[in-house]
Amino acid sequence: MIATVRRAHGLEGSIKVPGDKSISHRALILGAIASGESTVQGLSTGADVRSTASCLQALGAEIEEGKVHGHGMRGLRAAARPLDCGNSGTTMRLLAGLLSAQDFESELIGDESLSKRPMDRVVKPLREMGARAEWPPLRVGGEKQLHGIEYAPPVPSAQVKSAVLLAGLYAAGTTAVVESVRTRDHTEVMLGAMGANVAVDGMRVAVESAERLQPLHLHVPGDISAAAFWMVAGGLVRGSDLRLLGVGVNPSRTAFADLLTSIGFRIDRANARFEAHEPVADLRIRPTSEMRQLHVEHDQAAQMIDELPVLAVAATQASGTSVISGAAELRVKESDRLYAMEEGLRAMGADITASEDGWVINGPRYLEGARVNSAGDHRVAMALAVAAMIADGTTEIEGAECVDISYPDFFDDLESLS
Ligand code: S3P
Repeated sequence: MIATVRRAHGLEGSIKVPGDKSISHRALILGAIASGESTVQGLSTGADVRSTASCLQALGAEIEEGKVHGHGMRGLRAAARPLDCGNSGTTMRLLAGLLSAQDFESELIGDESLSKRPMDRVVKPLREMGARAEWPPLRVGGEKQLHGIEYAPPVPSAQVKSAVLLAGLYAAGTTAVVESVRTRDHTEVMLGAMGANVAVDGMRVAVESAERLQPLHLHVPGDISAAAFWMVAGGLVRGSDLRLLGVGVNPSRTAFADLLTSIGFRIDRANARFEAHEPVADLRIRPTSEMRQLHVEHDQAAQMIDELPVLAVAATQASGTSVISGAAELRVKESDRLYAMEEGLRAMGADITASEDGWVINGPRYLEGARVNSAGDHRVAMALAVAAMIADGTTEIEGAECVDISYPDFFDDLESLS
């Protein structure tokens, strides 16, 4: 699908972004091994979360409209076929952790993009725990008793942390992950709410083996990584006044909004509240009058990894040279995001050069509509759509259907706000 996006003249109104993708995956996975029925409202409608649901169903979990019926820690059974994780790295890595501890073997497969992404980062710690795990292709589980380890992931990753903690629920002794950068903490928050023995001490998260998890009852907050596109769009499009309702503002996810605020964006929070152990607020976004250049380095990059493509768009309008570094991980996401954003923004007239681990962007630059390519990557497609909203004329985005991965209604929301 080719999406045609024209310059926007003021984005106005209120929207609810889709349910948080990270929380949705975890709610389904943990609900599937809980004892009894969990109720989960506001799940992400994106294809990635649908992949997690269908894998869990293939493993015998009962999932229907907002309900997950778990049959306990040992309630899953071998799937008849390889589990298709689609485009979703979170599905593949978290399920690898969980399934490595089951007494049956599972094979996890994915689409062309996912098949190229590194899985050794989960295979290595799972093997250290005594699990059977190999890649490629990714095969885990079967017969072995796991034991706890203390693991320091070489690359900051909430997916790796979560995979190890999920395996740790079945391992003898304590399983701990010691992070160098604090990544999103939804797994540990949810496990605590379900009665697991989880301890967070500084950068160390430890879990004990669990006999039983209580079912969950939660309302998934709006995805702040989806809201990020509107933060930049509302800040850059003159005359905008946007309200994003019920967005999750867990501190492990707000580094991007904090950075935008520090360079001159106007992002105001209202109705701050807690919903099922996660902080939530309504966000109001208004145009920025002046935007300073930005600098992002390693630790910070890891904490806003999903928002970096749209940060590159913001940097094209900042005064001065913005340098984003420490983001080599972007080369192994759903696409090579460093390359895909350099290509797309350059075609629109931006002064952007990809480095080994980031971009150097000189701004402000006047952007012009062009024909650009999403590289089949949802966050690239949406970031380029935001660039198109401030570009002269019309932009055509090839492969725009990939927004379905995390934000199926993205273009409908754009229309309703324009
Ligand atoms: C996620 C963790 C991040 C993020 C991804 C979702 C998660 O990946 O990019 O979109 O839900 O745990 P990494 O763990 O590879 O950094």
